[in-house]
Amino acid sequence: MLSCLPLILISMKQLNLTIPVEVFESINELNSSDQALVNAAKEACTKAYAPYSAFKVGAAVLLENGKTITGSNQENAAYPSGLCAERTAMFYANAQYPDTAVMAIAIIAMNANGIIENPVAPCGACRQVLLETELRFKKPYDILLVGQSGIQKIKSSKDLLPLSFVGEGLLKSED
Ligand code: THU
Repeated sequence: MLSCLPLILISMKQLNLTIPVEVFESINELNSSDQALVNAAKEACTKAYAPYSAFKVGAAVLLENGKTITGSNQENAAYPSGLCAERTAMFYANAQYPDTAVMAIAIIAMNANGIIENPVAPCGACRQVLLETELRFKKPYDILLVGQSGIQKIKSSKDLLPLSFVGEGLLKSED
């Protein structure tokens, strides 16, 4: 039966993607600038408005001008209307300082038991927004994902969202 099938030559190639992640066991292993950013994110976490999930997230964005902008998740009774901490912080930073590049972002989350065990994993929508900021300023920036068990440092938001949509092919009105 099988011998009746035509021979199809398949030239499929496999692409294996690797993501470099620096792993730290505690905040004390970070440089002082990163430590300060993690502490700012932790402080922001306490300001979250999360009555529906009780999952509080804080984000702190370090700008090239030295300023630190923080944000936390803001929920809503109409659930999809809420916004994650990362986008709250990043949109505010980009809105206030549209010409200033981002150097780093630190993200941390806590639930009723305190800071979550594993480094917080930003949602897909936030990864897309973090990527756009990097492309916008043409500068990779550090992403610090914080958990009780340690901290993961990723050196570019491109690594957080491989095979990403970057708007290629969008028809701009001036074209
Ligand atoms: N959330 C964030 O703010 N950032 C993340 O990286 C993951 C999820 C928020 C959205 C929602 O308010 C709550 O956490 C539960 O999903």
